Amino acid sequence: MNCKKVSVLGSTGSIGKNTLDVIDRNRDLFHVHALSAHRNVTELAEQCARFNARLAVIADASLENELAQALKQNGAGAEVMSGEPGLLEAAGGPETDIVMAAIVGAAGLRSTFEAAHRGKKILLANKESLVIAGEVFVAEARRNKAPVIPVDSEHNAIFQAMPEGFEHGLAERGVEKIILTASGGPFRQLAAERFSDVTPEQACNHPNWSMGRKISVDSATLMNKGLEVIEARWLFNADPDQIEVLVHPQSVVHSMVAYRDGSVLAQMGTPDMRTPIAHALAWPSRIEAGVDRLNLAQMNDLSFEKPDLKRFPCLGLAFEAMASGASAPVTLNAANEIAVAAFLDGTIGFDEIPCLVADVMERIPVSAIENLEDVMQQDQQARREANDWVKNIYG
Ligand SMILES: NC(=O)c1ccc[n+]([C@@H]2O[C@H](COP(=O)([O-])OP(=O)(O)OC[C@H]3O[C@@H](n4cnc5c(N)ncnc54)[C@H](OP(=O)(O)O)[C@@H]3O)[C@@H](O)[C@H]2O)c1
Repeated sequence: MNCKKVSVLGSTGSIGKNTLDVIDRNRDLFHVHALSAHRNVTELAEQCARFNARLAVIADASLENELAQALKQNGAGAEVMSGEPGLLEAAGGPETDIVMAAIVGAAGLRSTFEAAHRGKKILLANKESLVIAGEVFVAEARRNKAPVIPVDSEHNAIFQAMPEGFEHGLAERGVEKIILTASGGPFRQLAAERFSDVTPEQACNHPNWSMGRKISVDSATLMNKGLEVIEARWLFNADPDQIEVLVHPQSVVHSMVAYRDGSVLAQMGTPDMRTPIAHALAWPSRIEAGVDRLNLAQMNDLSFEKPDLKRFPCLGLAFEAMASGASAPVTLNAANEIAVAAFLDGTIGFDEIPCLVADVMERIPVSAIENLEDVMQQDQQARREANDWVKNIYG
């Protein structure tokens, strides 16, 4: 394998740091070209120095000078860029071979789309891009022959268990359904009456995975699984009725593909994001990821159960949005991002997250999505509506 140049968008986050860890173990195969953060100047400058990055991008343009100073202090020689132009350069510039799309939320859409437009190999962690712009994004990636390798552990597992040529139609390749597993999150067994007492710290304390705060809350409400269902629809060209969710609290089986002949192929591993990251980076080769190995002999309890949509209505809302199609997933995602941020800053309760999302989805009619601008407009409208919801209740 030739040495590839990698841009890590969102390098200061949980996925970003894990990506740099895997690259560090495989420096003969990967060079860091560009790194980006939103506001974390200190960490970004340290990373640039450690990996000798050529380009450092700070999304908050007001911090550009601060970043230049910090790079100097760290002895890093990276060029500095900021805001959207910087992110687009990191994602689409001629020196980048591989783009790790690991910005959280809809904020990652434009740069991920740029990578697709420029035909880069995309390692897709930023699931929100596919949720809100799935059809447009997949078409752009196909048009420009940009390989999209899923990093989400579930989708990476499915990708590994899929037959060749799945993109031409699952049924034609003998696939009956995709089974996404869900850990069930920290409140799998908590009574619904106690959801109003849940604190952000409790919601971010996932039993199996260590992740950023937004995805941790999404995992606790099961909205994360809902977003993943929509992500799977686009990644694998699946009909909604070909996707099933099962709760699997041990997080050992990362997902499965069921075939017409009764075979079920599962991908297993310890719950460590470095495995799917390493798989996506090296695909179709395999590299060392630094993870603990599974000890199957010690595993006497692998259980699976149906999700409880009454206690976790966010998952049902996502299935509804997927069935409605068009702009419905954009509304779902934007309302959820506002709801999670309001919960994390203590404005609304954990139990109000699905109420806010459901109300906003009801208020905004579904409209057609034909391009990226349609997505952005719908996203802004849903954010305004969601912010109004919060203001109307809490002033
Ligand atoms: N963590 C996981 O295990 C995991 C697993 C599967 C999928 N994912 C997906 O991967 C993505 C990243 O998740 P994460 O857990 O790594 O998130 P995270 O820890 O919160 O990190 C987010 C990264 O995005 C940057 N960022 C935040 N807002 C931004 C903005 N407006 N513009 C540009 N950059 C921005 C952050 O910069 P600062 O540090 O400066 O704020 C940080 O580098 C999400 O889409 C998530 O759903 C994560």
